[in-house]
Amino acid sequence: MGIGGILANKKDNDTVDQLTKATNKGKSSRNNRRRQKKMTRVQRLYEMCKQVFSSVDPGIVPPPNEIQRLKSILDEMTPDDVGLRPDMSYFLGNNGAGGGLVPKITYLHIYECPKFSIGIFCLPRTSVIPLHNHPQMTVLSKLLFGTMHIKSYDWADTNVLSNVNVGDGVGRLAKLKVDGEFTAPCGTSILYPADGGNMHCFTALSSCAVLDVLGPPYSDPEGRHCTYYLEYPLSTLPAAASSSDVAEALPESSSSSSSPSDIDKRSHAWLKERKDNPEDLTVVGGLYSGPAIKEK
Ligand SMILES: [Fe+2]
Repeated sequence: MGIGGILANKKDNDTVDQLTKATNKGKSSRNNRRRQKKMTRVQRLYEMCKQVFSSVDPGIVPPPNEIQRLKSILDEMTPDDVGLRPDMSYFLGNNGAGGGLVPKITYLHIYECPKFSIGIFCLPRTSVIPLHNHPQMTVLSKLLFGTMHIKSYDWADTNVLSNVNVGDGVGRLAKLKVDGEFTAPCGTSILYPADGGNMHCFTALSSCAVLDVLGPPYSDPEGRHCTYYLEYPLSTLPAAASSSDVAEALPESSSSSSSPSDIDKRSHAWLKERKDNPEDLTVVGGLYSGPAIKEK
């Protein structure tokens, strides 16, 4: 065979190679799509959490496009995807601890590793998860069913009045982020280490279930413990502070008035740490009975 023949033959072989590669690539993406289709939503959620949080340190927010992909999976999730039904015993209103008036909340643990956790809070009607924080965390919460009132705060961007005497303790100025009712199906809410409403309070207006993704999870040894807060209206002026101090702490009010406007009063509050775990909160663990996560 002459050199022309060899080159022609090589060209043919290259073309065959390229076709084979293209066919294999097509096959592998079809297989991937099939695998994705077969995968349960909770498994897809786990895989995406791994991708989003595995290489992220506490206090660092993952890239927005990755958060968006995680949100898209959560947005589509339903009670069915995690084996829940509103008529399950977790959601009945007469399960107060020891026959008491506070309905107990059940937490169904789905998965936890040092980088992230996945779980569901099952809230009977009128139950409340009091105002609490999420230190150094990015948290995605998806209301699976029911109606819930959410109130959330971030710390105010000010060094003024960051530690003041409020009630019988020390409070800090916080700005209101969310104060409204949410009814499923609705979009996933997201909070970040320093904004998005890092401190929130959930009140169940009907029985409801919230699927929570925490990245990273709470960890006492790593200094990420859950702190609960009491809120005081802005009008509860600290003894040592004057209204002009408050005006200075609220940039939007300082130009127009020496005292906070009504809007500022409504959109800010003093938050004071609770010393003990709230007596109005009872959370018990329950057994998650939805599709299992397969770790790879
Ligand atoms: Fe929370």
